Parts: sequence; C-alpha cells; structure tokens
Amino acid sequence: MKPRLNEYVKPWVQGIGAYIPGKTIEGYIKLASNENSYGPPPRVMDAIERAKSAINIYPYKDDEVREKTAEYCRVKPENIILGNGSDELFDLILKTFRGPCLGINPSFSGYKIAVNILGEDYLDINLNDDFTFSSEEFIKKSKKANILILCSPNNPTGTVMAEDQVKEILDENKITIVDEAYFEFYGKTAVPLLKTYDNLIVLRTFAKAFALAGLRIGYGIANSDIVDLLYKVKPPFNVNSLAQEAAITALGDLAYMKSTTDSIVKDRELLFEKLKQKFRTFRSYANFVLADTTPMSSREFYDRLLEKGIIVRNLGKFRGFEGEYCRISVGTTDENRTFIRALEEF
Ligand SMILES: Cc1ncc(COP(=O)(O)O)c(C=O)c1O
Repeated sequence: MKPRLNEYVKPWVQGIGAYIPGKTIEGYIKLASNENSYGPPPRVMDAIERAKSAINIYPYKDDEVREKTAEYCRVKPENIILGNGSDELFDLILKTFRGPCLGINPSFSGYKIAVNILGEDYLDINLNDDFTFSSEEFIKKSKKANILILCSPNNPTGTVMAEDQVKEILDENKITIVDEAYFEFYGKTAVPLLKTYDNLIVLRTFAKAFALAGLRIGYGIANSDIVDLLYKVKPPFNVNSLAQEAAITALGDLAYMKSTTDSIVKDRELLFEKLKQKFRTFRSYANFVLADTTPMSSREFYDRLLEKGIIVRNLGKFRGFEGEYCRISVGTTDENRTFIRALEEF
C-alpha cells in the first residue's frame, strides 16, 4: 500500500524547488560549477591511494585537519569546525540557531533552499543594479531576522562587500555568516574580525581553490562557544577519511594551490575583458564571471556554447533585475582559450 504522502509531508517541504546543479557531460569543457579545472596537487592522489587501505575504519583525523586548517587561517583549532562541504555547515548553523534568515539577492541559491527545508523564513534585500552592495537597507531589514547571510565574493555576481559594511552588519549583533567560498581568488577575509565579534561565522570550502569538490569538505571559523554548539548538532563522522587525508595533504602544498589560483585570477581578467566587448559584464573577485547576455537570451548563449562542447551556467532572469544572465567559471588556460574562440564567433 502506498503511504499518503500529502498527509505526512512537512507542509513547507512541498513548495521547495530542489537545487539544480550545473550540467556535467563527459568530454565537454565544464565551466558551470565554479570548480577548479586544474585539480588538486598530484600528492593528494597519492595520499588517497594510501588512505584507501583504512576505509574499513571510521574517519579519525578530525583533530589533525582542524589543526592544519587553523594554521592556514591563523586561528586556533578550537575555532574550526569541519563539514561535509560548506553547505553542511550552513545546515548545522540553521539547526542550531533560530531563523528568520536574511540574505542578499541574487546570491547562492542553496541558502534559501536549506532555510526553507528547516521550515524557517528566508528574507532578502536586492543588491544594487550593478550588483554592488549597500548596507543601509540590509541593516534596516535585519531587525526582522536572527541569522544574517553575507557572501563575499558573492556567487553568482562575483562582487564583494567592504570590511566596513561587514562590521556595520556585525554591530547589529545577530548571528552573521560570511560565506567566503571564493576567498582564495580575492585575498581579503573577515577572519580577523573574530577578535572583536563573537557573532561572526566565516564559512570556507576545499571545493574551489583546493579543487576537492567531489570529496565534500568545508569548514567554519568562529568563536569557540559557537563551534562547541555546532559540534552538538554535527553528525560524528560527517567528513570521510579520504577527504580528511586529501585536505591535510592539500594544506601541506599551499604553493600548488597558489599557482593554480594565480592562473585562474589572471585568466578571469582576460575573460572579463573579452566578454565585456560583447555583453554587460561584471567585475568579479571569484573564479567565475557573470554576463548579461542581452540582446541574446541566456538560453541562446548557453546553447550556442553547448554546441561547441562548452557548458556554462544559464541563470536566466534575476528577480527584480533587468537582463538575462549566464555565469562562466574560469577553467584551465586551454579551456579558457577554447571558450574565447567560441565567444568570438558569436
Ligand atoms: C557561495 C557558495 N557557498 C557554498 C558553496 C558550496 O560549497 P561546498 O561544495 O563546500 O558545499 C558554493 C558552491 O558553489 C558557493 O558558491
């Protein structure tokens, strides 16, 4: 007998639109999910090879990853919590603290989905027309929220928030998340503000600059009281042993990460210039560039590249904004050249 789903489902789950990931087709150049096409350093592959002999035991290197991550972030291990991707950390924060939540629009679509899954309200404030951020309206609306969600550099716009704006928002004394998934492509961080603000949680990931998206590992940096609370709701073995090993090894070869992020940043500027010759394009501080594809539809832009074996992210329209948008991740220099050649034929 079939269960009567409508009777049992949590009412707020019915209306949720599931997250749609970027397309992956074997043999195509994928510039759709802000991954790092260069991959991790070869020594990470060796470490995974070695670690596979211990997959019969539960992961046990949480402390070592926390120590190495803390060193990288110049904080103490007690300020670090690891997650199965930074998206799990976002979930842990939402399980621990009460909503409503306030974010910006447009921003990472995963936030609203995660907030709504837990039955909380997600409010947002539009960015300016050029996707820069003004804190005034945000601060006004923050009175109605308990958790504030900032993303800098912001996905999908690539724009950033100034430190003074982040401070003004922290002064509201709400739980404030600053998602720094793309930190390494920008270089500025809110981490030093942890000395002054106990309400700050910085989220980072190994999925972008460190090229470990498939292993699912991210981390949060916060005051140890917040970290202790998050530990109460964290599943005990949320980061698997191969991901732990890969993160330790990748943190031991920062020069490799730096060299790939340097190339990506250099090529980002080239992609920006090339796109700007044809479309309204936004200066980005992450590993992707956003373009308004008008007068083409974003679907047409996407399809014409797909015909040439390149997958970008078709984002369509943004609520409250003119134009139609595609986001192009910066790939390897060869991939970027292929993209530019295709673009020049438009
Ligand atoms: C802003 C932002 N935060 C978080 C994530 C998710 O990161 P992770 O793979 O660590 O869950 C993404 C992924 O694209 C992102 O763009």
